[in-house]
Amino acid sequence: MNIGIDKISFFTPHLCLDMAELAEARNVDPNKYLIGIGQSKMAVIPPTQDVVSMAANAADKILTPEDKEQIDMVLFATESGIDNSKSGAVYLQRLLGLKHQVRVVELKQACYTATAAIHFAHGHIAMNPDSKVLVIGADNARYGLATKGEPTQGGGAVAMLISRDPQILAIQDDATYWADDVMDFWRPLGFDEALVDGKYSTNVYLEFFKHVFKEYQDNTGFDISKFDAMLFHLPYTKEGFKALKIAIEDADPTVAARLTHEFENVRRYSNQIGNLYTGSLYLGLLSLLENSTDLKAGMRLGLYSYGSGAQGEFYSGLLRPGFDQNIEHEAFQKVLDARKQLSVAEYEDVYNSRIKISDKTRKLDISTDPAKFVFAGVEDYQRQYVVK
Ligand code: CAA
Repeated sequence: MNIGIDKISFFTPHLCLDMAELAEARNVDPNKYLIGIGQSKMAVIPPTQDVVSMAANAADKILTPEDKEQIDMVLFATESGIDNSKSGAVYLQRLLGLKHQVRVVELKQACYTATAAIHFAHGHIAMNPDSKVLVIGADNARYGLATKGEPTQGGGAVAMLISRDPQILAIQDDATYWADDVMDFWRPLGFDEALVDGKYSTNVYLEFFKHVFKEYQDNTGFDISKFDAMLFHLPYTKEGFKALKIAIEDADPTVAARLTHEFENVRRYSNQIGNLYTGSLYLGLLSLLENSTDLKAGMRLGLYSYGSGAQGEFYSGLLRPGFDQNIEHEAFQKVLDARKQLSVAEYEDVYNSRIKISDKTRKLDISTDPAKFVFAGVEDYQRQYVVK
């Protein structure tokens, strides 16, 4: 039975920052951000959006009444959770109008967990072929102002519907994974911003890729020529490019050129949004689907997922017949182009205005946020969501 990604959609808020302007404000050569890190714009998350509202905005675009009837599990992958007890998934049951006969869970292992969720969904559907699982990867990638991590921020949510006979990508049973207890990136309880050993995290990401990709090749007998596109977790797009260079170092020049060309389609949206943490790898999939003109049914995509702390995984998926039927060329580029570009001072104001853990009751002005689902503030520490 083919099981995999039936539908995919994405949401990022309506605000962004130009990386060249940020570089200028931080006295950095703009080419360090634009070329060295590989980011041209960065999503700015207003206080009126959090992982729950962003997830609802993403999922709402793809779910039909029939899907809602069949979804019996919601797996919410995030490392920007808004509660130590209640899962982000349970808010979605109400906001999206899902039935009550549904299992709702939040999962955590840094940026890796949407991949874990897809595999858990795969197992669930193998046992319950008529069910569908909603997988969310939603995060607000947030480092301190004027820190080295600042240019690698971003945020948004990817929503994926996992089912049998999927329209887009059939997940293959070929994953290789590797875990090790390392301190490359973490966010202690009570901290709003991540702490990171930046250079070390970059190196661990690449070392884990070497482990899982070698084991994958040993297990399957597939070399790099078997792949039609390679997708990577993209904390910043240059990082995925470094992993791609490792993957193609012994490749035939035609294969290397083809994969390098497709990687530009994979990273196009991330380059304008920044890090998404859990959703990043799958934003790359959406970007490839909407921007490549060479994809065909049956082609094999390689996916490298990484979550600091750390977990790496490599697996593949095969494009399904008719995979592009509901994909509109460059559709999301229009959404990105319509965003409001902030000045650095405005971005810093937005950055500093988010709800804090200590806020017991605070109402947010939702009138300037055009999204359908918004976070309206807290009342007695209870989060308030509004459907416009
Ligand atoms: N023109 C062109 N390139 C330039 C340049 C210029 N004027 N100036 C610098 N560069 C290049 C550098 O040569 C370097 O390139 P290489 O990586 O190819 O060597 C690149 O720009 C970055 O320069 P630095 O290494 O000096 O940058 P930095 O010290 O400011 O740190 C960073 C960069 C480590 C990515 C930092 O932004 C950071 O810590 N980010 C957060 C952590 C992160 O994203 N880690 C990635 C792996 S962890 C993960 O995947 C989980 C997750 O999502 C966080």
